[in-house]
Amino acid sequence: MLKNKDIWGPATIRAFLLTPREEFASVSAAIHKRAYEHAFLDIGYGVTMSGPHLQGRMTNVIDVKRGEKVLEIGTGSGVQSAYIANLTENAYTIEIIAPLAQRTRALYDKLIDKGYTEYKHIKTKNSDGYYGWEEAGPFDKIIVTCGIDHVPPPLLQQLKTGGLMVIPVGPPGAQRVLKVSKTQGADGSITTSREDIYGGKIVPFVPFTKLEGDKIVGSHNR
Ligand SMILES: C[S@@+](CC[C@H](N)C(=O)[O-])C[C@H]1O[C@@H](n2cnc3c(N)ncnc32)[C@H](O)[C@@H]1O
Repeated sequence: MLKNKDIWGPATIRAFLLTPREEFASVSAAIHKRAYEHAFLDIGYGVTMSGPHLQGRMTNVIDVKRGEKVLEIGTGSGVQSAYIANLTENAYTIEIIAPLAQRTRALYDKLIDKGYTEYKHIKTKNSDGYYGWEEAGPFDKIIVTCGIDHVPPPLLQQLKTGGLMVIPVGPPGAQRVLKVSKTQGADGSITTSREDIYGGKIVPFVPFTKLEGDKIVGSHNR
């Protein structure tokens, strides 16, 4: 990861070294032994745990500082928020698939009992992350781990001025990972700028799905 420049800041490096990735890949023996591979792994419910290279780069890009509030959309296996929990005391994560959200919550609780007390920093919620977590916001940083063809306006609204978001944007299966910065100009106007963290490379993500009532129906793509 260092050689490939997928991780560079000392705090993020420390967070990765302290995270037992294999614990988050414990759904089957087959994926448990592949936890540190440069690959996405099937964690059930039709979704994946992204590989460490991608997670390292996305985590390092948002440069989380202690005390900052960070929102993750797409809890999945839980490993991404485990990294964040080593960087700040204020980690929030939303998962749309109810049984997966419950499974990962139970895993955090088991790991807290085992002594990984930093996972107490993680607040979990089962809902549709398109609308963010208004009561907990605004956030310094937002990390989106499912792909969508636009930046959800509620997430941009819940991002603080001066904040950063990393999000895969593009058509199904062909997203580009963008760093979105929200800044305030001298005249007080709010602007956003975007930068591709892979210089244009396509990185496929699972879809940013949509909740209608209590059913997941299609995606939020326009
Ligand atoms: C690539 S996967 C999991 C990555 C995860 N961060 C990890 O570390 O394993 C993306 C996750 O986003 C979830 N997801 C998709 N649409 C969502 C939505 N509207 N709100 C919240 N989570 C969503 C999926 O169910 C899936 O668990």
